[in-house]
Amino acid sequence: MGKMTQQKRVGIVGATGLVGREIISILEENALPVRELNLFASMRTAGEIVEFKGKGIVVKEIQRKLLQGHDIIFFASGGDVSREFCPYAAQVGALVIDNSSEFRMEEKVPLVVPEVNPEKVFSGPGIISNPNCSTIQMVVALKSLHEAAQLKRIVVSTYQSVSGVGKEATEELFEQVRCILSCQEIKAEVFSQQIAFNIIPHIDYFHPNHYSNEELKMERETQKIFADPTIRVTATCVRVPTFVGHGAAINAEFHKPLTLEKSYELLGKAPGVMVVDNPSNSEYPTPIQSVDRDEVMVGRLRIDQTVSSGLNMWIVANNLRKGAALNAVQIAQEWLKHQYE
Ligand SMILES: NC(=O)c1ccc[n+]([C@@H]2O[C@H](COP(=O)([O-])OP(=O)(O)OC[C@H]3O[C@@H](n4cnc5c(N)ncnc54)[C@H](OP(=O)(O)O)[C@@H]3O)[C@@H](O)[C@H]2O)c1
Repeated sequence: MGKMTQQKRVGIVGATGLVGREIISILEENALPVRELNLFASMRTAGEIVEFKGKGIVVKEIQRKLLQGHDIIFFASGGDVSREFCPYAAQVGALVIDNSSEFRMEEKVPLVVPEVNPEKVFSGPGIISNPNCSTIQMVVALKSLHEAAQLKRIVVSTYQSVSGVGKEATEELFEQVRCILSCQEIKAEVFSQQIAFNIIPHIDYFHPNHYSNEELKMERETQKIFADPTIRVTATCVRVPTFVGHGAAINAEFHKPLTLEKSYELLGKAPGVMVVDNPSNSEYPTPIQSVDRDEVMVGRLRIDQTVSSGLNMWIVANNLRKGAALNAVQIAQEWLKHQYE
């Protein structure tokens, strides 16, 4: 047990981005025993100074040799950077937690949500993938219901905030709103169309079967996390002009019966879940409420009367925290436990 508190040398690649900065703020809350924190990004921001626990840390341009000697490295800098540097970082001895989708479906790479499949976390070095943000919040919300009634099929529609794309996307929404309100012409560079006062049913690229990559990620990643390829998932992923917090309308069908009362009881006890469901008093989850929350909020529970066992629900979580940074740090916490048990 003593070893668990050993201080760790930790690195963050993509430290100047939205997810990287959120990881830093979670580490400031002492989520991990950090002896030394090293921050990496591209040459664009190398040299910037980022505050951590009252001290300034100089951001360095990522280079292989700088990754040596770390216990834990978080990657939050996009697929290309992960593909180039994660295998090396693992090879030289680090636990690598990758936020990109690059390794998620590789058989040997665990895809972990600590409330759902913590047993997949290994000890020692290697790559663990952090799932897609919309997938994380959906599996956290469904885990206890799945254990009780066994999921058969999920139909999900997402309402995803612009911060899910990163800092430039967040700036684009802000800038478009500013231009529209001051009667100036807008530019759409990050998004395919105007995002301000609009919604766009397009996240990531389209496959030949007309599904977006985000929609297919929700299907494949859910099956991998629940370790059950028989669960059918069909998704429609939509970008909405909110800054933080992803919503999702979920219709879940089960093999076994599930009452509304039982669902409330299970969700009330489920780790990482917060039930917010008193619609007659206008109480239900909204993205604004997720800004300073770590839980997946679940509300608008209704029995789906069109099938023999089905439930409708509306969920919201903070995509930058539970959907990315927090889940990544929780994986590291789980790894520390496994290592020293
Ligand atoms: N945002 C979310 O809700 C969310 C959720 C789940 C997963 N993710 C994943 O997390 C990763 C980061 O997302 P984000 O939203 O934080 O993006 P972001 O705000 O755009 O930040 C990207 C970060 O990556 C760095 N970077 C970009 N190109 C680089 C390069 N060639 N070499 C080194 N560093 C480079 C950037 O550094 P500079 O500042 O120097 O450009 C910045 O620190 C992505 O893989 C994303 O898919 C994001």
